[in-house]
Amino acid sequence: MRLMSTSIEAFQTMVNERNPRFFDPVPFVQKDIDRIYNQEQVTVGMPMGAEIILNALSREHTVAIVGAQLGDEGKGRIVDNKLEQILSIPGMQMAYVVRFQGGSNAGHTVYTPEGRKIPLHQVPSSINEDRAVGIMDSGMVVHMEDLKTEIEDGEAIVGDLRNRLYLSEEAKLVTDLERAEEVVNRFKSSGKSGGGTGRGISPTYANDLSRLGTHVKDLMAENWREVYAARYDRYAKEFAVHNYDIATMQVPDLRATRDQKKAVTRNLGTMDEFLDRLESVRNWYIERDASQPDQPSMIQNTFLMHQEMYNNLNAGVLFEGAQAVGLHHAIGRLPDVTSSDTSINGIAAGTKLWKAQDIREKIGVMKLTYMSSVGSVHMATDLMLPRKAITDESGLTGAQKFGAWVREEAHEYGTTTGRPRDICLLDLELMRYNIRMGGIEMLAGTHLDIAREDMPIKVCTHYVDSTGQRVAYQPGVEHQENLTPVYVDLPGWDGAAAQQARTFDELPDNAKKFLAFVQAQTATPITAVTNGPQREQLVEIPRWELPPKPFLGVDVQN
Ligand code: IMP
Repeated sequence: MRLMSTSIEAFQTMVNERNPRFFDPVPFVQKDIDRIYNQEQVTVGMPMGAEIILNALSREHTVAIVGAQLGDEGKGRIVDNKLEQILSIPGMQMAYVVRFQGGSNAGHTVYTPEGRKIPLHQVPSSINEDRAVGIMDSGMVVHMEDLKTEIEDGEAIVGDLRNRLYLSEEAKLVTDLERAEEVVNRFKSSGKSGGGTGRGISPTYANDLSRLGTHVKDLMAENWREVYAARYDRYAKEFAVHNYDIATMQVPDLRATRDQKKAVTRNLGTMDEFLDRLESVRNWYIERDASQPDQPSMIQNTFLMHQEMYNNLNAGVLFEGAQAVGLHHAIGRLPDVTSSDTSINGIAAGTKLWKAQDIREKIGVMKLTYMSSVGSVHMATDLMLPRKAITDESGLTGAQKFGAWVREEAHEYGTTTGRPRDICLLDLELMRYNIRMGGIEMLAGTHLDIAREDMPIKVCTHYVDSTGQRVAYQPGVEHQENLTPVYVDLPGWDGAAAQQARTFDELPDNAKKFLAFVQAQTATPITAVTNGPQREQLVEIPRWELPPKPFLGVDVQN
């Protein structure tokens, strides 16, 4: 097999082919198989010199990382790795990690260099790095008590986070009222609004759009008690219409959940109990600030911070997405979606200063050899494994056996709930759509070691209807009903051998070809892959080999 030497024109060809491949992928399937598997021409990664184009269009040292599938793709690893890379650039003084959407529905796990696990929901993944500052921006929905718990637990592991963590005063405030509202909404919609994580995400975003919501600064204002007492009162009346007694409604208790290591709920409580809890957490933030009066407050006008950081080229900026493009409120797998803009375009509204084009590396993270999903709906390529532990494999198809093996091998169980995740085959139609609409320009693949030599990897290249006509992926699971996914079987490889690789060259040949196929089919460069659970099991894909030619009138040799 030879690695195809190529130049920037090949990159241009790839980009130029994006639309033809998106609108009519079928002719490309056999063409890619012939080129990669028969002629052994393997092209993976970005060409050298692509920076020239990207630099001209964007702010240096900026990276956005979002999920390209349905969540849980392993974004944390990639964020960690990119942060390390940015901080190792000569002259780089610090980096910001900005969360721009979502809230405690997200579950990110960060490991310290010693291997200690830090589970994060609202706090950005910057927590490990002394030279990194986390920003929870205005696009987020933040529950202040949960945040306190996360900060306390994080500080117990990594030390003082003051001056390393900021919260936008304009972030949307989630209280236990919004969490209870999620329960009532489920009832009001006869279960149709179900499937949420119960963290109050959808009511908080909905209230924000209806201009009914409150923000972090409302809790910190002098008149906070009147505002939240009136709010409690209004909620109590509305809930009573639906026969809910507000005081006994159950809401998640993160402190107890963390301490007891299982999901624990508590009563929302009487008005006084609710207000006293808010007061106690409010005081905690005030006292925290008071403990270092000459330092900026943790609760900030982050817009001003962005103004400054944009122009400080000695600071890297990393935008950390939560959930995934497939869970986007409008272009995700409706109806089972989250309520925020999970795409790279969401950075604009979520930071109020950065636009997508400012960002140099727009990375989508994907599981490579399969996809996983949580929630109520089934995707087109779902292997329909039982949503419980599988004890008997005798009734399973070959593909389902692969899925059952994947579930165990990759431990595809929810981090908080322990529920087995649905296992789906890699869906390139979904990927092309999510890449296009999610503003993704590069891919980072995870789980390259989840493969076996004796099992082919089935990959869906497109869907057809009952007449054999190709039908495009359209967001919304109803649009995949009655469609048949068309699969190609690609040769597997030895996952244990893949785990040993530290460079692209060391990967098994079939893994390289698989990456080349995914890159060709999505017309999007794969720039890094993870090949095992350890921090160092990450393979950077080198730039293509030929020295770049002058492009756009700029000579890259100079
Ligand atoms: P919500 O964000 O709590 O409203 O939940 C809406 C849907 O998004 C549900 O199907 C959740 O399971 C899913 N979801 C929310 N956050 C995540 C995540 O971080 N990973 C995977 N799925 C998620």
